[in-house]
Amino acid sequence: FLPPVIAIDGPTASGKGTVASLVAEKLGFHYLDSGALYRLVALASKKEGIDPHHPQELGDLTQKLLISFKNGLILLNSEDVTEAIRTEDIGLLASTIAVHPEVRQALVGVQHGFRVSPGLVADGRDMASVIFPDAILKVFLTASVAARAERRYKQLIAKGIPAKLTNLLEDLQERDARDSSRGAAPLVVADGALVLETSELSIDQAVQAVLDWYQAKN
Ligand code: C5P
Repeated sequence: FLPPVIAIDGPTASGKGTVASLVAEKLGFHYLDSGALYRLVALASKKEGIDPHHPQELGDLTQKLLISFKNGLILLNSEDVTEAIRTEDIGLLASTIAVHPEVRQALVGVQHGFRVSPGLVADGRDMASVIFPDAILKVFLTASVAARAERRYKQLIAKGIPAKLTNLLEDLQERDARDSSRGAAPLVVADGALVLETSELSIDQAVQAVLDWYQAKN
């Protein structure tokens, strides 16, 4: 018996992280932020000075990393990197290193490890298509580029991080293009996934839509 998984995939800054963690909270399920894993590899590779276009070295590095999620903090080799992985730079670097199958493969086991009772809500790009193809519910959560850039802008400003809307728009488009066009596990609407367009929805409405879909599956 494997605990149920709700897979929530979507583009950068679509709000899937917020929605996924709230759905997990409501259901008492565990939560996996798979993007954080790619960000951790990006940060570690930057610290070690590894070329983002060297798949083998990146794969070896990924296998050696000690990653843990504790009390809302993200630790890399026991250092608290919760904030450090959230910068735009690290996000862009994450999308660069995430194209390599060597890196993706090294993270499969870590992700499967989150599937524990009573269930898991997992967000990312390939949760439904690759990591949890047997997910009981697959959601593709999206929003217009303009809506996403504005959400990201507000998030950064709220955290006191300087940001420019036009730069964010360009970054999003660059990452969308890279995530959708790569050969390994590209961002796609998985077979059987339900699309949730959130440009006009509040967070509560989006969370409720996912919960309703989940209820309907049971
Ligand atoms: O979701 P987030 O913006 O934190 O992800 C950072 C980057 O990690 C994405 O742009 C994407 O390239 C990569 N990623 C991925 N597969 C996932 C989650 C994230 O390739 N499941």
